[in-house]
Amino acid sequence: MPDIPDHLIRLKGGFKAFLSPPPEGVVRLTVGEPGFDTPKNISDAASAALASGDTHYTRGEGREELCTAWASHLRSRWKIPVEDEGIIITPGAKQALLYAFMVAVREKDEVVLLAPCWPTHAEQVELVGGKPVFVHCEAPSFHPSIDMIRGAITEKTSAIVINSPNNPTGAVYTPEEMISIVQLAIEHDLWIISDEIYTELIWNDTEYVAPASVLGGFERTLTVTGPSKTHAMTGWRVGVFAAPTPIAKVVGRLQGNTCSHIPSFLMPAAELAAKDWSSVEKFREEYIRRRELMLSMLEQIPSLSASEPEGAFYVMVDVRQTGMDATTFAKRAMEEALVQVIPLDSLPGGEGYIRLSYAADDDVIREGIQRLQSWLVQ
Ligand SMILES: Cc1ncc(COP(=O)(O)O)c(C=O)c1O
Repeated sequence: MPDIPDHLIRLKGGFKAFLSPPPEGVVRLTVGEPGFDTPKNISDAASAALASGDTHYTRGEGREELCTAWASHLRSRWKIPVEDEGIIITPGAKQALLYAFMVAVREKDEVVLLAPCWPTHAEQVELVGGKPVFVHCEAPSFHPSIDMIRGAITEKTSAIVINSPNNPTGAVYTPEEMISIVQLAIEHDLWIISDEIYTELIWNDTEYVAPASVLGGFERTLTVTGPSKTHAMTGWRVGVFAAPTPIAKVVGRLQGNTCSHIPSFLMPAAELAAKDWSSVEKFREEYIRRRELMLSMLEQIPSLSASEPEGAFYVMVDVRQTGMDATTFAKRAMEEALVQVIPLDSLPGGEGYIRLSYAADDDVIREGIQRLQSWLVQ
């Protein structure tokens, strides 16, 4: 067999190794997706489009009415001054992120990541030939230090990635932090890649300030969002790339030359998701309850110390007091307590921590934490 490029051999699978369905009887506290079904009106819109024969090639960026719907949402909800032509509808937010890194990173450029970060961000930086530079965010808040970000910027830096609310830490950056990061980006003429997939899932009273809404931020921010987490649409593969129009035109050509567009018959559903946020409120209430349930149960286990997540649906749990590192903890939790968790040892800044997801149903959360407790508190 002929060789393949080294950078593809090096490409890792993110959390994939820990997300594979475990043997029967194991409780999964790993999965980063809503335990709800997609709202019926949205599914119905796709079924109707499919039934009516909406199965042909169409506008690569997404149909005009679909892009307009997402642009209007981003303008009104998050004050991002994006034009309708500045929107590209992508196969999942992940693909939108890849386009963002392709735009913002040249070979050997450095990209600042606030660690611990979602592994895909770092993998995609490497995939486009860039070098991830990790700036550690200290526990328990996992908020970034602006001075540390400044200290990490060199003449090779081309971009800073912001993901707030953050996966895996749950940190929601304050308006002041967001504005300071935008100012740093302006000072050093950097791109900001803002992964906003969890912005509807904030549990404290922090006002979310989108970097693209800050004065001077829009022209240098590539915003990525989508309905996967908010509308329980993870399997649909719909994402949104939002940028100044000249950049979106480039990304439109990138998409046109690769996947062409998302499936035509999903477009009416993706448009409806941009207009109908009614189910999100219901999901939010559920998450707030489940978060409380998980945190109160974790409190009963003295050797585990959980950070209070401010957003998204993950809890960082420090396991070092058990005497185990996170990888050993995860392996033994699976074998001895029949609970699947994600160890973060391999993520810069995640050493000694596991990530638990409270997107799961109440029963799953109860059973999973109960098993950890019986295992650890002998
Ligand atoms: C931070 C972050 N960004 C993006 C995504 C991917 O979103 P999508 O499923 O729309 O590709 C995820 C999914 O886990 C995520 O956690």
